[in-house]
Amino acid sequence: MTIKWYPGHMSKAHEKMAELVRRIDLIIEVLDARLPLSSSNHLLAELRRNKPWIKVMNKNDLADPRVTKAWVRHFEQQSGIRALPLSAKQHREVLQLPTLCLRLAPHRGKPGRPLRAMVVGIPNVGKSTLINTLAGKAMARVGDKPAITTCAQQIDLRNGIILSDTPGVLWPTMSDQGAAYRLATTGAIGANALDYTEVGLFAAEFMLLRYREQVFTRYEITTPPESAIALLEQIGRRLGCVVSGGQIDLHRAAEAFLRELRAGKLGRVSLEEPEETAVVPESSVTENVPEAEPQ
Ligand code: G4P
Repeated sequence: MTIKWYPGHMSKAHEKMAELVRRIDLIIEVLDARLPLSSSNHLLAELRRNKPWIKVMNKNDLADPRVTKAWVRHFEQQSGIRALPLSAKQHREVLQLPTLCLRLAPHRGKPGRPLRAMVVGIPNVGKSTLINTLAGKAMARVGDKPAITTCAQQIDLRNGIILSDTPGVLWPTMSDQGAAYRLATTGAIGANALDYTEVGLFAAEFMLLRYREQVFTRYEITTPPESAIALLEQIGRRLGCVVSGGQIDLHRAAEAFLRELRAGKLGRVSLEEPEETAVVPESSVTENVPEAEPQ
């Protein structure tokens, strides 16, 4: 699979972020709870300057609760890091975030001494949704276009906290091919940068291995398929992705299957666990990113 990138955006974004980190009190990194490592950018650790760091594990409503607990334990073993699983669409859950911010920077959040927090995350993890819920009205742009990059903006939450929003400027690390497939499975990589059939087969294989019962229940499968392709064919048949002659249209089947998986129709699914994830590269992540291709 070829992933298409714009590395030129990245170095500029990282410079901007390094400058911003100097001026803020804490970092709010928004991650996708289904893939907390692949949806992060490890450069942030280098830019951090020992600022308190909250890892918001967003879309928790879609993630496997057992795996999320393991990730929280994993993150909170690291100094100065707190992990907060939530759904950015749920106001009540989001309210935990300002409370945690003020606890981590107790010298701030007072009249004349606002707490300044930077919100970062790769495209599509839900930064705009989170900011909108926090701010109580539609201030940040929400949408499903991972390539959108807009300028940093300041958002006064009127509770002693000022957010610096840097939407779309951080790209995932993509330290291995598995991370690329996991990101593609959740839709974090744009629709024109991936091959649906390949990603669908990856997701089918993963579901067979980890969430076999959930996928069998959803598609009423009684004869367990022997391979990912056989599973995708069964799903395609069930969803009516059939072409003339009774053949399964695998591309359509993959598209429909991924759509359902992303929407949580197969239940709560996490795509990676802390103990099995790759070692975090020490150096700048831009070295690991595949070459750019025109879209
Ligand atoms: P971004 O700023 O980080 O790029 O992400 P954004 O808020 O635009 O959210 C990307 C998609 O993720 C949106 O869906 C949004 O509704 C969805 N989303 C955000 N937070 C959550 C969450 O906690 N749970 C779930 N299930 N979904 C979440 P969309 O279909 O692209 O847009 P929309 O039609 O919902 O507006």
